[in-house]
Amino acid sequence: MSSYPPDLKARLKSSYDAIAPTYNAWTTAHSSLRTQYLSKLLALLPRNESQSTPLAVLELGCGAGIPVTETLASSPDGLAIHVTANDLSSTQIALGQARLAPHADRVTWLPGDMMGLDFADGSFDAIVALYSVIHLPREEQDILMGRIAKWLKPGGVVLVNFAGEDVKEATIEKWLGCDEGWMFWSGWGAEATLEKIKGGAGLEVVLGEVVKEQEDVDAAFLWVIAKAPAL
Ligand SMILES: C[S@@+](CC[C@H](N)C(=O)[O-])C[C@H]1O[C@@H](n2cnc3c(N)ncnc32)[C@H](O)[C@@H]1O
Repeated sequence: MSSYPPDLKARLKSSYDAIAPTYNAWTTAHSSLRTQYLSKLLALLPRNESQSTPLAVLELGCGAGIPVTETLASSPDGLAIHVTANDLSSTQIALGQARLAPHADRVTWLPGDMMGLDFADGSFDAIVALYSVIHLPREEQDILMGRIAKWLKPGGVVLVNFAGEDVKEATIEKWLGCDEGWMFWSGWGAEATLEKIKGGAGLEVVLGEVVKEQEDVDAAFLWVIAKAPAL
């Protein structure tokens, strides 16, 4: 039996709306793994000389765009990219819009629950979701990975991180020391998650490794890069 609250998404939205400035200050100092894995993803994206159409990238749970949306929208490695950036927190979306104003033509912002999104099959060259899928109940994580597999173009790639351990539900009342920082995480653990990505979603796992966070964060996440089958 699940014990997470029926208003889980509303509670998470309200928490991230409240803690956005604290989270963003904290995350700026903890960006190195994200940058490292994003580079690995970018190296797998198709390159053609003229690139008349920007590559289409979806980001789920983008926060205020630090550092992923901002990197993607800034033509990394000379790649023209259009980012569809989703987040549950309207405060984070507003902060992201202000921060990325110089790249406004490169980002479409989609506020709301990522489980409410719907795209045509084969819409994206790549999808990124960092430290965000962990906030979905794990049954929803399975459904989402199946959708991601469909939303990717043939040969498209996804970068996502998950809980490294089997955690049905973990909650904390005051995450990052914030009075309004109630938080929820969930995951199947590394081995089961990788099996589900391969067997359930039908993606090819390019990379799947559990990595300990930086010194002052006592957690390890499963980092996955996976590929949709080519036609
Ligand atoms: C830990 S932050 C990560 C933000 C950013 N991806 C990063 O790497 O710093 C988690 C983000 O996921 C968002 N989020 C949580 N549940 C979500 C959901 N169901 N749909 C969309 N975004 C969600 C939160 O609002 C928050 O901005």
